[in-house]
Amino acid sequence: MCGIVGVLGNHQVAPLLVESLKRLEYRGYDSAGIATVNDGKLDRRRAVGKLVNLSDLLVHEPLAGRAGIGHTRWATHGAATVANAHPHKAGTVAVVHNGIIENFRDLRCELKAAGYDFESETDTETVVVLTRALLASGKTPQQAVEALLPRLHGAFALCFLFEGEDDLLICARKGSPLAIGHGDGEMFVGSDAIALAPMTDRITYLEEGDWAVVTRAGAEIFDAQNRRANRAMTRIQVDATRIEKAGYKHFMAKEIAEQPAVLADALRHYVENSGGVNPALRLPEGLDFTQIDRLTMVACGTASYACHVAKYWFESLAGLPCDIDVASEFRYREPPLSARSWALFVSQSGETADTLAALRYAKDKVAKIVAVVNVSTSSIAREADLALPILAGIEVGVASTKAFTCQLAVLALLALKAGQDRGRLTAAQVQAHLADFALLPGLMNHALGLAGEIESLSDQLAEAQDVLFLGRGPMYPLALEGALKLKEISYIHAEGYASGELKHGPIALIDNRVPVIVLAPRDHLFEKTVSNMQEVMARHGKVLLLSDAAGVAEAGAGCWQALTLPQVPDLLAPILYAIPAQLLAYHTAIAKGTDVDQPRNLAKSVTVE
Ligand code: AGP
Repeated sequence: MCGIVGVLGNHQVAPLLVESLKRLEYRGYDSAGIATVNDGKLDRRRAVGKLVNLSDLLVHEPLAGRAGIGHTRWATHGAATVANAHPHKAGTVAVVHNGIIENFRDLRCELKAAGYDFESETDTETVVVLTRALLASGKTPQQAVEALLPRLHGAFALCFLFEGEDDLLICARKGSPLAIGHGDGEMFVGSDAIALAPMTDRITYLEEGDWAVVTRAGAEIFDAQNRRANRAMTRIQVDATRIEKAGYKHFMAKEIAEQPAVLADALRHYVENSGGVNPALRLPEGLDFTQIDRLTMVACGTASYACHVAKYWFESLAGLPCDIDVASEFRYREPPLSARSWALFVSQSGETADTLAALRYAKDKVAKIVAVVNVSTSSIAREADLALPILAGIEVGVASTKAFTCQLAVLALLALKAGQDRGRLTAAQVQAHLADFALLPGLMNHALGLAGEIESLSDQLAEAQDVLFLGRGPMYPLALEGALKLKEISYIHAEGYASGELKHGPIALIDNRVPVIVLAPRDHLFEKTVSNMQEVMARHGKVLLLSDAAGVAEAGAGCWQALTLPQVPDLLAPILYAIPAQLLAYHTAIAKGTDVDQPRNLAKSVTVE
C-alpha cells in the first residue's frame, strides 16, 4: 500500500516529509520521493529502494521549500524505477497517489491524442497530465481538480502541489483513506494518523468522495457533490501511533511477544470480571443473534483464516450456519444473501480494498454489516453498521500476528454470544468458557517460551523447498495460516491441508526433504491425525508435531521433532497454537535472511483490488 503526505509548513519541509514517510514504511514500498515549491518553483527528488536512498539523494541534491508532498510507492503499474516513482509532475503540477486509476489507459490515449507526452508506465501519471491539461484550459488549480475527479475511475487518495503556490495543497479521497492534520499556522495531509503524528494530534478524516483545498489558514472540504462539508476534527492519542521496536530486532518479534498483553486488553474490553468471578460477556447493543438464521463472513489472507476458525465455533457452539469467502471472490459470485442474515467483515487495517468492496456489495442485502477491525477509524469500521475493535494496537509487521489472535478472541466471544442467544449455551457454560479465556494470556506466555526450541529448528526448516502444515477441525485453518506465515516472510513454498486430505493427493509430495508440521492438541480428533502422521512417516516424511504433553507422549516417538505446548481448552487451541506457527515462520525467515517486517512484494494493507 502506498503512503502519501503533504506539508504546508513554517520551516523547510523536506526533513519533515521524509520523517513522515518513515512512519509509513510499515505499509511496504519499493521507491519514494518528495516534491516542494521553493520561491515559486516546483521541484522533486525520487529514489528507488528504501528511504535511506532518498535521504542520501537529498544530502547531495537538497530540496528547499516550505510546501511539499511525499510518497512511498508499492508498485502496481510499472516496475520500481525512478521514472515510475512519485511524485509525478507535468508542467506546473505534481501529485502523489495511493490507489489505482482503473480507466488510466483511456485517459492516456485521450491525452496523447491531445499532444501530451508521458515519461512513466504508471496510472498516476495520467492524473497529473490531465490536471495539467485542465490548467492549460484556463482553470484555476481548484477548478482543475474539481473537473478532474469525476474523470477518474477506481480508488485514489491524491495530494496535489502547484508551481507558484507555496500556500496550497489540494487533496481528494475515493476508496483510499486520507486525513488532514491541523497545526499552528501549518497544515498537513497524510494517508493516516501515523503519518501525521510527528506534526500534530489534531486530525480530520476525509469521508468517501471528499476533496479539500488546504492552506495554512485551514482546510475547505467538499463532498462528492462539491458541496461544502463539515468533518469533525478529532484528537488522536499520539503515543497510540508510536511505532517503535522497543528493543526487539523486528516489529514482528515485538508483536508476537505482545500477544498475551493485547489479548488480555481485548478480553477486559469485552468481558466483565475477566479473570474474576462470574465473568460475563460485555458486547455492544445490536448483537442479538436471535435475529438471524445465517452468518456470512468475508475477509482476506490471515483475516480470512480467522473467519474459517470462527465458522467451526459459530456452528458447533451456536448451531448458526456460516458461509465464508475471501473478499476477492465474494462479490463476483453473486452469493444469495438473506435479509435474515448478517455479513461480518474481518480486517486488521480496515482498508483492504477487496474487503471494503465486498462490504459495499453486501450493504443493502443483509440485515446488518458487522466489522471486526484493528483500526477503528478505518473505512471498513466507518462503513459497517457495527464495528468491533480487536484492540491489538498498531501492527507494523506485514505478517499479521497479534491481530490474528485478537481477531480469533473477538470472534470466539461472538460465537459464545450466539450460542447463548440461540439457547445452545447456558449462562453457566458461557461463564465456564470465559473463565477458560482468562487463562489464555498465561498459556500464550508459556507458548512464547518455545522460541528457543523453534529457533534451533529454523536452520533445517530454512533448507526446505516445500513445507506442509496439517490440522483437523479448527486447527485446519491454523494449518492454512501457518503456511501463509511461513511463505510470506521466508519465501519457502508452504501449503496447509486438512489432515484427512493428505491421502487424497498431497501425500505424493512427501519424501525425506519435506517437513510436515502437524498442529494437533490431544483432542477428540487426535487419533485420526496420528494416523495421518504415520502415513507421512511411512514415506520418510519429516513430521514436526505440535501438541500438548499427552499428545507428544502418545505420538511424538518417530517424529522428526515435537514441540510441547501447554494443555488448553479445545475452544482456545487455535488461538494458542498460532504462536508457535508465527515463531516457526519468524525464525525460519531470519535463518533465510529475508526482510521479516517488509517481505518482498508485500504491503501491510492492500488498498488496491
Ligand atoms: C497476513 O499476514 C498478510 N499480511 C495478509 O494476508 C493480510 O492478512 C491480508 O492482506 C488482509 O489484511 P487486513 O486484515 O488488513 O484486511
